[in-house]
Amino acid sequence: MSSAAKKILKNPRAQHDFKGRTCSIAAVGSYVPERVLTNLDLERMVETTDNWITTRTGIKERRIAAKNEFTSDMAARAALRALERAGVTAQQIDLIIVATITPDMPFPATACLVQQKIGANRAAAFDIEAACSGFIYGLEIGQHFIMARTYDCVLVVGAEKLSSIIDWTDRNTCVLFGDGAGAAVLQNRPHSHGLLTACMGADGNKAALLSMPAGGSRCPASAESVASRLHYLRMDGKETFKSAVNAMYTAAQESLRRCEIGIKDIKCIIPHQANRRIIDAVAERLGAQAEQVFVNLEKYGNTSAASVAIALDEAVQSGRIQRGDLILLVVFGAGLTWGAAVIEW
Ligand code: ACO
Repeated sequence: MSSAAKKILKNPRAQHDFKGRTCSIAAVGSYVPERVLTNLDLERMVETTDNWITTRTGIKERRIAAKNEFTSDMAARAALRALERAGVTAQQIDLIIVATITPDMPFPATACLVQQKIGANRAAAFDIEAACSGFIYGLEIGQHFIMARTYDCVLVVGAEKLSSIIDWTDRNTCVLFGDGAGAAVLQNRPHSHGLLTACMGADGNKAALLSMPAGGSRCPASAESVASRLHYLRMDGKETFKSAVNAMYTAAQESLRRCEIGIKDIKCIIPHQANRRIIDAVAERLGAQAEQVFVNLEKYGNTSAASVAIALDEAVQSGRIQRGDLILLVVFGAGLTWGAAVIEW
C-alpha cells in the first residue's frame, strides 16, 4: 500500500477517549394486548386444570394478540411509550434492535417494520434471535454501539406473538405462553451509570430442548410439515427447567462478580418470567430475599423476549425501582441461551 493510501485509512474512532462514556436506559415502555386468556378458559380447550397450571407454573392468565395485531404492532406501541417517557423523538433514534422468535415474517426484519410504524426513518434496523434471552442480548449489543460512539440513541425492543406458534391442542406448552412487547431507549447520558454490565451465554448442544422444527431451510413449509404440526413450538419441559436454573444462577453470579457487588446490593431482581418454580429456585441459590424478586408471570405467562422488558417497565412504573437502585436482570431461553445484566437505574 502506498503512503498516500495509508494517510486516507484513518480510524475515525481513534480520536475518541472511551473513558467515562456510559450507556443509560433513558426510559422503558411496554404493551400487552387486550384479550385475556385465563386458566379456566384453557380448561375448556385442553385436558388441564387451573390447579395444575397454578401449582406447576404460577401462571393464572396470559394476553393474546388480536388476529390483525402482529409482533411489529406490539413492538411499535411499546417503543412509542418508551420514547415519550425518555423525551426522545423517533427521528433521534440511530438504531432499532428487535428481539423476537415470532417476527411478522421470516424477512424483512420486524425492526424495519417497527421503524416504519414509529417513523424513525434515520435509524438502522435489524432483528436478533436469542429467544427469551433476546432482550438482554439486545441491551448488550445496543450498549456496545453507544460505548463505541457509533450511535447516541438505540431503541431495543423485545416483542412476541407466541400465540401464533403455539399448538393449542398441546397441554404441555399451550398453558405457558402469552403475547406482548417491552422496549428500552438507550442513550449516552453524562453523569449516569446505566447499564453496568451484561453477560451472555449459549449452548447449542441443547438446541433440541426447545424449538420450532419447520419453516426454516432444514424443513421448509410443505403440506407434510403442516400436517405433522412441525410449525409449532416444541419443548422438553423437564430438561429445560434444569438447564434454566443452572444457567440463570451462573449468569447472575458472573454479572455480580464483574461489578464487585453481592446479591444484597441488588434492590430488585427481574428474572425471566417462565415459571414461578424456576424463579424461586434461582433466587434461593443466589441467597436472595423474596422481596427482592419481581414477579408478574401470573398475569402474562412467558412472553419470551418481551418478558423481562415488560417486567422492568412494570417495576419502574409501580415505583418498585427508583433512580439509583441496582437492578439485576436474568434470563434464559431456547438455543439454549442465557444472560444477566446489572443496571444502575
Ligand atoms: N395440565 C395437566 N397436566 C399436564 C399439563 C397440563 N397443562 N402439562 C403437562 N401435564 C402432565 C404431563 O402430561 C405429565 O403427565 P405424565 O406424568 O402422566 O406423563 C405431567 O403433567 C408432567 O408433570 P411434571 O413432569 O411433573 O411437570 P413439571 O413439574 O416438569 O412441569 C413444566 C412442567 C411446567 C413445563 C416445567 O417443566 C417447566 O416450566 N419447564 C420449563 C419450561 C420453560 O420455561 N420453557 C420456556 C423456555 S423460554 C423460551 O425460549 C421460549
